[in-house]
Amino acid sequence: MAEINWSELGFGYMKTNGNVRCEYHNGSWGALEWHTDEYIQMHMAATCLHYGQEAFEGMKAFRGKDGKIRIFRIEENAKRMDSSCDGICMPRLPEGRFKEAVIEVVKKNAEFIPPYESGAALYIRPVLFGYTPQIGVSPANDYLFIIFVSPVGPYFKGGFATTPYVITRKYDRSAPLGTGIYKVGGNYAASLRAHVEAHEKGYSSEFYLDAKEKKYIDECGAANFFGIKNNTYVTPKSTSILPSITNKSLMQLAEDLGLKVERRPIAEDELPTFEEAGACGTAAVISPISRLDDLDNNKSYVFSKDGKPGPVSTMLYKKLRAIQYGDEEDIHNWNTVL
Ligand code: PLP
Ligand code: COI
Repeated sequence: MAEINWSELGFGYMKTNGNVRCEYHNGSWGALEWHTDEYIQMHMAATCLHYGQEAFEGMKAFRGKDGKIRIFRIEENAKRMDSSCDGICMPRLPEGRFKEAVIEVVKKNAEFIPPYESGAALYIRPVLFGYTPQIGVSPANDYLFIIFVSPVGPYFKGGFATTPYVITRKYDRSAPLGTGIYKVGGNYAASLRAHVEAHEKGYSSEFYLDAKEKKYIDECGAANFFGIKNNTYVTPKSTSILPSITNKSLMQLAEDLGLKVERRPIAEDELPTFEEAGACGTAAVISPISRLDDLDNNKSYVFSKDGKPGPVSTMLYKKLRAIQYGDEEDIHNWNTVL
C-alpha cells in the first residue's frame, strides 16, 4: 500500500483492497462475494444505463483514539436503501445483508481507515442497480449490489468553515411527488447544471427552493439545511428532499443539548431571522453557511458576520464528531464498533 498523506485527503476515490458484491437473479439474492476488481462488465442495454434504475448510499467509518473502528448508523442507511429500492422498483436486499456487507468491506479495507489524528474518515459507498439487457421501459430482472470504500477528507475545502451558497430558480432537482426523497442517481444528474453554474460563480453549492412555488427552502445541493434561532434548531419538512441521517442525528443532539427542534416548511422570507445556518450530510458533516445569495432578487442572507461558524453549529459539530470518533459516549447506540 502506498503511503497516504491522510490530513491532505480531499473527497475523492482511491483504490483499496477490494469491494463486496451481491447478485440478484431469478427472483433472489445470492451470497456476498469479495472482489478485487474495480470494474464491472455490463450489457450495453442494461436498465441502469438507459432508465436510471440505480440507487446508492453514503456513510462513514472512523478510527478512534482507542484504535477501534466505528461505523455510523448503518441501520439507518440500510432502511433508506430499502426505501430507494421501493421507490424505483428494485428488490430490497434480505434483512441484515446490507449491514453484513458494510462490516465485511470495512474490515477487509481496515488499513485505509484514516488515523484518529487526521480528522479524515473512510467513506462507504453502497450502490444497487438493475442491469438486465432490455429496451422496453420496465424494471430489470437482474440486479447487482456493490459496496466500495475510499478514505476521504472534507467535502468542502477548508472543512468546518463557513462558505457561501446560491439559490437556484433555473433548475429543480426533484418534483414534489418525484424521486427527491430517494437516493437515486437521477436526482444528481438533475442537479449537475445548477451545481456547475454555482461553482463557476464561486459558491460552494447550489441551494434549492421547493419546485412548485419556489417559496420554501428545500436543500443545499447534496446536503440538508438547518437554521438556528432563539435556541431552536429548524429544518425543512418537504416531500422533495432526501431524509438526511446526519440531520436526523443533529435533531437528536440539538434536543440533548437543550435546544428546541422544529421540522416544518421554512419560507424564504424567514431566512433573515436565522442567527446561524448550515448544510449537513455524511460528506458535508456540518458546513456552516456564511451567506446565501438570491441573485434573481438582489438579496443576500448573511448568517455569519465575522466569517466564523456560529456557537450552536460549532457545538453540534463537536458533539457529532466526538460520538463518531468515540471520544464521547454513544448514548443513542448509533455506532457499530468493530
Ligand atoms: N441531501 C442529499 C441530496 C444528499 O445527497 C445527501 C447525502 O447523502 C444528504 C442530503 C445528506 O444525507 P445524509 O446525512 O444521510 O448523508
Ligand atoms: C453523502 O453525503 O454521502 C453524499 O452522498 C453526498 C454526495 C457525495 C453525493
